[in-house]
Amino acid sequence: MTTDADAVDEALATAQSRYLERRPGTRDLHEQARELLPGGNTRTVLYHRPVPLRVARAWDGMLEDVDGHTYVDLLGNYSAGLYGHSHPVIVAAVTDALQRGVGPGAHHAHEIELARAVSERFPSIERMRFTNSGTEANLMAVSAARVFTGRERVLVFRGGYHGGLLTFLDGASAVNAPYDVLIAPYNATETAVRMLEEHADTTAAVLVEPMLGAGGCIPGDPEFLRALRTATRELGSLLIFDEVMTSRIGRGGLQDRLGISPDLTTLGKYLGGGMSFGAFGGREDVMALFDPSRPDALSHAGTFNNNLLSMIAGHAALTRLYPPDVAEFHTARGDDLRTELAGVFRRLGAPFQVTGIGSLLNVHATTEPITRREDLAGSDERLKQLLFLDLLETGYYLSARGYMALSLAVTDEQLEGFLTSVEKVLAARPGLLSGAR
Ligand SMILES: Cc1ncc(COP(=O)(O)O)c(C=O)c1O
Repeated sequence: MTTDADAVDEALATAQSRYLERRPGTRDLHEQARELLPGGNTRTVLYHRPVPLRVARAWDGMLEDVDGHTYVDLLGNYSAGLYGHSHPVIVAAVTDALQRGVGPGAHHAHEIELARAVSERFPSIERMRFTNSGTEANLMAVSAARVFTGRERVLVFRGGYHGGLLTFLDGASAVNAPYDVLIAPYNATETAVRMLEEHADTTAAVLVEPMLGAGGCIPGDPEFLRALRTATRELGSLLIFDEVMTSRIGRGGLQDRLGISPDLTTLGKYLGGGMSFGAFGGREDVMALFDPSRPDALSHAGTFNNNLLSMIAGHAALTRLYPPDVAEFHTARGDDLRTELAGVFRRLGAPFQVTGIGSLLNVHATTEPITRREDLAGSDERLKQLLFLDLLETGYYLSARGYMALSLAVTDEQLEGFLTSVEKVLAARPGLLSGAR
């Protein structure tokens, strides 16, 4: 095997030029956007080089960019797009909501319906509150835990992502909310439990994704997660499972699969039927803090917390499009895709691997074992970029970081086409693949 790093750089530069040449409209809109939005962007994760893709319309499992190129959408709006684009059930629900009069500024029946459907799916959630995003849900859950326990600190994990104000991907983000946090290594049971024990008197909660999502779809070791459950129970801290991304796995999220009942759970993404959504909930005694009929109630405001679009679309979608049997089936479908994709990489000897659970997958440009975020240090991001651009040219859209969230709208034929395309684009670059760092 040759090591020709320059050839990778050269191929990437050529792929980027080709991308730009074929997208004059995208380039033009990026220039316009830059005059109003910093870097032309208002959602950081969407940015990629050389200029980000700009979509004109989307339907089912498809996207069309402003230059008229079409793509199978394998990104599924970072997992919020589980139902594909504009599913008729959701269009009907949203139309119904619009006709009922959006923003009644009062309680209504639909928030109860969605809450009931969510509680049935996630029995650990005895009481819940809706928010507008997963970020907000996590902020509220952490704050609730601090009030409930009378303790300040939160134990989080390196590689964790709980929203723009609670980001620990490679250490704490500079724009994080100013909580007192301890960052432990993920999947390192002994270290995490020891840190928790050492800071037992001051730790309000352990906030953990049962699979690191944005951190690279790295599954939590069941023993690690069980140890967190046991230790938090013994030490009087709350265990918060961030299932904003993973609640779509199987019939009841990863907590059901693992048989772990957290004290609080945070949700988001697809559960609003594709509308803006978040929720936090769990133990009745903790959530009772927010009962406004209590004289000492905590306030949880939010103009759009019970907005009709999210409540009605979320309920229709969860109950009609993603009942438990469909959730199980879709998870198995994602597992099959991961197995087949891994098979392609193996057959070609390509320096890639794919991690994840069910319909949530992430391609990495390293063949070393991955059990925590730090293991991605050797991943050659240039190769991932190249694969991303090559796949775009053949009509498949995933995230530039290699993340995929399979939607219900993507067909088996489209998945077969994707696997064939991966094989083709990799086979067309034999020298470069062996030139990975
Ligand atoms: C695990 C996890 N938690 C929280 C969030 C934040 O959700 P939102 O983007 O709705 O604020 C995300 C979003 O990607 C997530 O993946």
